[in-house]
Amino acid sequence: MDECPPRGRTLDATDWDTRYRLAREAQAGQAGRLWSALPAQIVQDTVTTFTPGRALDLATGDGRTAIWLAGHGWTVTAVDFSAEAIGQAGEHAAAAAVAVDWQVGDAMIWDPAGETFDLITVMYLHLPEPTLRAVLARAAAWLSPGGHLVVLGHDQANLETGAPGPRNRDILYTPVLLRSSVEPAGLGALRVVRCETVSRDLATDPEAPGDGGAAVALDTLLIVEA
Ligand SMILES: C[S@@+](CC[C@H](N)C(=O)[O-])C[C@H]1O[C@@H](n2cnc3c(N)ncnc32)[C@H](O)[C@@H]1O
Repeated sequence: MDECPPRGRTLDATDWDTRYRLAREAQAGQAGRLWSALPAQIVQDTVTTFTPGRALDLATGDGRTAIWLAGHGWTVTAVDFSAEAIGQAGEHAAAAAVAVDWQVGDAMIWDPAGETFDLITVMYLHLPEPTLRAVLARAAAWLSPGGHLVVLGHDQANLETGAPGPRNRDILYTPVLLRSSVEPAGLGALRVVRCETVSRDLATDPEAPGDGGAAVALDTLLIVEA
């Protein structure tokens, strides 16, 4: 699905509440999800190489990554500024019989109160560059020693392929943007394990139900180790 705010403005929490509520209403009686039920395959493949511990899913949406992590042995905190999304996530978690600490919070100001995490996931959080840089720098500071930050989102190259996703170049990712967000002075203890553009097969790995006009989507993947 596209995010299409007027140019220069990103969606606020009220906009996102509306999107999640409309998705639920449009599919009344069905699963009613804005996004797919599972995280992207590359995230599943990456995380299964880590030992489960404490995880944070930042901008969790309706919780697909948080719920999947909880089902794979992680103790999960999940944050999103859309109360509607968090409410739906709680319902999906109950249906999956997993426990997640759901919190409504803005990624720019939410704080884990001294807690650190073995894994932090940030999936498809598209914000203006200065805001995204600030969010990723904050998140990186919450990693436990040896912990991993995994960031995945739509790559700018999608604008040339017609793959679904935001059309606003200013909020799309590039490997240069993600790498430089975690490599400024002061974050020197972090090691970039992987930072590249990756392909996602839309037939088997859609971001949202109904994606599939193009064969593949291009995502930017960043994996950092503390
Ligand atoms: C494209 S959705 C992705 C949701 C989820 N990560 C996933 O992959 O299914 C982007 C999410 O970011 C959330 N979001 C956007 N800006 C945020 C902010 N400043 N703080 C917290 N959540 C935010 C929205 O509410 C929305 O749920």
